[in-house]
Amino acid sequence: MKKIIEVLPDGAALTVRSLDLILDKLHSAIQERGAFTIALSGGSTPKPLYEAIARQNLPWDKIHVFWGDERYVPSDHPDSNFRMAGEAWLNQVNLPASNIHPMPTEQADPATSAHLYEQELQDFFKTAPGEFPAFDLILLGMGDDGHTASLFPHTDALQVCDRLITVGNKDGQPRITFTVPLINQARCVLFVVAGANKRPALAQIFAPTGDDLAYPSRLIQPQAELWWLLDQPAGQDLHSL
Ligand code: 6PG
Repeated sequence: MKKIIEVLPDGAALTVRSLDLILDKLHSAIQERGAFTIALSGGSTPKPLYEAIARQNLPWDKIHVFWGDERYVPSDHPDSNFRMAGEAWLNQVNLPASNIHPMPTEQADPATSAHLYEQELQDFFKTAPGEFPAFDLILLGMGDDGHTASLFPHTDALQVCDRLITVGNKDGQPRITFTVPLINQARCVLFVVAGANKRPALAQIFAPTGDDLAYPSRLIQPQAELWWLLDQPAGQDLHSL
């Protein structure tokens, strides 16, 4: 595994650097395989990045957008990661509707939605049950408790190793999430983290030893590339790494 950590001076620089990296992976994937598959993170940090992507002139028909996790709310709910990415990026460009793969959240049972999305991934990547497809890039954020995607501390989702998609749990609220092994299969995993409130968790995550179940981002160790792009307030203690 190739692991790169970069600390950028501010949010604007973090957005520019993140965009550069994504565009580099996008053009390489399209050149090598004719398409680019990306899984998006939610929350607030990636919104400026999605707005920056929307301003690019890209071969949208070759780009396939998935989500690494989703809150279990309707797609038009203010908390929906799908809605945020649509408003910031996807509604602004000519990306074919068939290239946009939101996590279903309308099923009564979240487990049914998890199974449906797993089936959608298997159909898209033409993988067999139990086989983990390799996304070109999985974009991740990190909470101040060290969670990523919807893999929260000390939850059952952290232990799921035989599925692509599972049901996460935040304070009793269901989420749909990629599993650790699916994330670790990616060609490139990119964490984009901002804010001083993330510093304590980052110290735990970058410590040589620690409690993986307490800080789930420690579990993200892809076979290929792992990038951490941090703004100064989040990453100022990590320069020495
Ligand atoms: C979500 C995300 C989650 C997010 C972190 C950081 O659905 O909320 O996927 O993993 O990346 O909670 O969120 P912020 O960027 O808002 O700090």
